[in-house]
Amino acid sequence: VTRRTIERTLDQFKITPENIREGVLYFNKQMRDGLRNKSESHDYMPMIPSFITHIPDGSETGLSLAGDLGGTNFRICSVELNGDHTFNLEQYKTKVEKAFMVGTSDELFGHLARQIKYFLSLHHSDYLKSNTEKIKMSFTFSFPLDQTSLNTGTLIRWTKGFNIEDAVGKDIAELFQKAIDSLNLPVRIVAITNDTVGTLLANAYSSVSKKKTVLGAIFGTGTNGAYAEKLDNIAKLDSKTVELLKSRGIDDMIINTEWGSFDNCLKFLPTTIYDEIVDSETSNPGVHVFEKRISGMFLGEIVRLMMLDLHKRKLILQNYEQIEATLRSVPSSSNLLNLTNLPRRPNSKKLSHRILTEWNFTTENLSKIQIDDTKNLKVTELVIQESLHLATTFEDRIIIKEVTTAVTTRAALLSSIAIAAVVLKTGRLGVTLDEKGVLVDTHLKDDVVEVAVDGSVVEFYPGFQENIYRGLRYSQLGEDFAKKIDITITKDGSGVGAALCAGSYLE
Ligand code: BG6
Ligand code: GLC
Repeated sequence: VTRRTIERTLDQFKITPENIREGVLYFNKQMRDGLRNKSESHDYMPMIPSFITHIPDGSETGLSLAGDLGGTNFRICSVELNGDHTFNLEQYKTKVEKAFMVGTSDELFGHLARQIKYFLSLHHSDYLKSNTEKIKMSFTFSFPLDQTSLNTGTLIRWTKGFNIEDAVGKDIAELFQKAIDSLNLPVRIVAITNDTVGTLLANAYSSVSKKKTVLGAIFGTGTNGAYAEKLDNIAKLDSKTVELLKSRGIDDMIINTEWGSFDNCLKFLPTTIYDEIVDSETSNPGVHVFEKRISGMFLGEIVRLMMLDLHKRKLILQNYEQIEATLRSVPSSSNLLNLTNLPRRPNSKKLSHRILTEWNFTTENLSKIQIDDTKNLKVTELVIQESLHLATTFEDRIIIKEVTTAVTTRAALLSSIAIAAVVLKTGRLGVTLDEKGVLVDTHLKDDVVEVAVDGSVVEFYPGFQENIYRGLRYSQLGEDFAKKIDITITKDGSGVGAALCAGSYLE
């Protein structure tokens, strides 16, 4: 019975080949609807025009600054493109304290401007002395922006744990420029962009192979993707902009899909009680629900909630006092006190505060458990001991490892849906899905295309890429399609990629 209960819990995370194919069709629909509609809705993906229309070929040159805010760090770089696929880069990285993530926009951008000043004093003090020359800066701001030009974009909402209310609906470039100007720094923001756009451009610039880069994607704290779309397909772009671009011989624009918001209406995505609780714990409940099943910020939290549930159902951690509260009420910190004050049975210990605390179990812990092939799962024992202050039995550890595998395999298989759908949408392999989801021309071209990826999950999580490939094999065109997609880790999207955006700025 015990085994069957565990199997049933794990089965909720299974993704079948049929699920993948259905997901690809629905993703295709949500992309198409998002390209048509301007207003925000749960029925389609944001599909944000980036106003970047030039995909680099490696010959670009010039010096610019790049700022990068998208997760735990703020990075500031100066990039010199050499025009031969290579570049020189200086950089300074600093952790963004939680207080800045949830304070006011003045505090956040004031702090970032001071970091730029520090960076310039280290590497470009000549600019600090010059009164006239301003250095161009691209700002990689990896949150959903309603972009209206290369260097203007209003914040739609925060994601990934940021929550600064006064910035929502404001032009982020303007807020940041104001903070930069108040320190009299010789810096002008000429582009505001997304980490996925930077990743796509950086790979296109650096790659010396003939393979086309068709997608830039992040699987890290959050997840998202960007690709080049035909202007004719971006119905929500105003006709004047389209005409102007076309008159300059431009046919495509990069779209930031914000695929974290795929299927916000939950018509397709598998939803367990754990997903519902994670969503309710976030600052943006009901949105970015695809991201909440895939990316690093959330996977550890799903596993923590599952451990608590399995404990409550007397399946693991049985040397600890039983949790009396329902799972739904467990995560709330306000319940913590009640839980830890429950009457104790003799010889049983209290569950640690750590496992009862939201967001306290990281995806990095999951990676360590995933590769644990030691006898008795010793590494897992240490991870749980050190991170949650809990002693486990071997049986506990086997189950915790199974839970970890179930949650992260689902994440990778869901990720493959996004990759397959975007590659098909570009038609670059000779095959595409039409409006109705029917495959147009099923003859795959000989070419292999590159999918440029960055982020801690895809880079470091054991087996994540293999499972993405498995998902691609399950998709509409199977094995042959998967073989034509080359997933390439691309570092420095927010440095080199952003610098390339600055290059698109016309005086
Ligand atoms: C970094 C990029 O390498 O990867 C950032 O510089 C990007 O722009 C980040 O946001 C994504 O990964 P993670 O794991 O830090 O969220
Ligand atoms: C979140 C952001 C998105 C970003 C992604 C990866 O989904 O909304 O803009 O690209 O995280 O960092």
